[in-house]
Amino acid sequence: MKTVSCLSLSGGQGKTSVSLLLGKLLAHQGQKVLMVDADPQANLTFYLGHDVQASEPTLLEVLKRQVETADGIYPLAATNLFLIPADEGLHKAQEYLATSGMGALALRYALEAVGNVFDVCIIDSPPQRTQICLSVVGASDWVLIPAEASTKGVNSLLRSLELLEEMGRLRVFTGQVLGVLPFRDKWFGRSQATDSREAIAAMQQVAGAVPVLPSIMESERYKQAIRQGRRLSEMGHADLEFPLYRVIEVLEQEVDNG
Ligand SMILES: Nc1ncnc2c1ncn2[C@@H]1O[C@H](COP(=O)(O)OP(=O)(O)O)[C@@H](O)[C@H]1O
Ligand SMILES: [Mg+2]
Repeated sequence: MKTVSCLSLSGGQGKTSVSLLLGKLLAHQGQKVLMVDADPQANLTFYLGHDVQASEPTLLEVLKRQVETADGIYPLAATNLFLIPADEGLHKAQEYLATSGMGALALRYALEAVGNVFDVCIIDSPPQRTQICLSVVGASDWVLIPAEASTKGVNSLLRSLELLEEMGRLRVFTGQVLGVLPFRDKWFGRSQATDSREAIAAMQQVAGAVPVLPSIMESERYKQAIRQGRRLSEMGHADLEFPLYRVIEVLEQEVDNG
């Protein structure tokens, strides 16, 4: 199983949107995909249409080892797509992770138990540097950093790269940064908005050797696809799926390079 997380240390950077669209596309391509909602805001769980029942285990119980990992996994309506859901109770994992002594490794260990069952695992992460976030970093083979094409996005990228570097030095993060995915890149016809252009140029500077991938354009169509739970190509906008295909291509190249 290849574990890819969407990480970016601010809200509104596209973590949940990219996790969702990428997971659905991979499942559509025939890969068996496990989605993990590691944000107590539980937006991914909501957009995937999963209703958490009070009696059902979520990521919280999986992290705390109160249930087997497999018992926290639910099949979704789409073929090949599975979810470890979250609800707001996930914030209770914070204290457990901080005091258990295996905080940053808890998610990695939990996912290892199902590593033979799935082809890809996509993890959506919280917007702050919490224990849950560190656990996501510890579980990631690859990290994709979505960042809004704005000053806020550049800052989010900067802080995310710093976190990964720090966690790399501590050997908590043993994966690689797959790339930076600019989000909500604004265009008016054929001309790019100045702030978008400047922000993406700044991202290229900040990213250094990490590739800045083709951006996701600002468009209502992505929002519609997310809201309606459909793929962009199903809605007649296959062209907008290009940045997602590029992510999959880069991931495959990295896997091949070992
Ligand atoms: N291509 C897009 N253009 C404009 N807005 C978008 C696009 N894709 C998603 N959005 C919206 O942007 C908002 C923030 O995205 P989200 O994925 O929730 O960010 P994060 O998970 O990093 O907080 C959401 O309300 C989402 O519907
Ligand atoms: Mg989110």
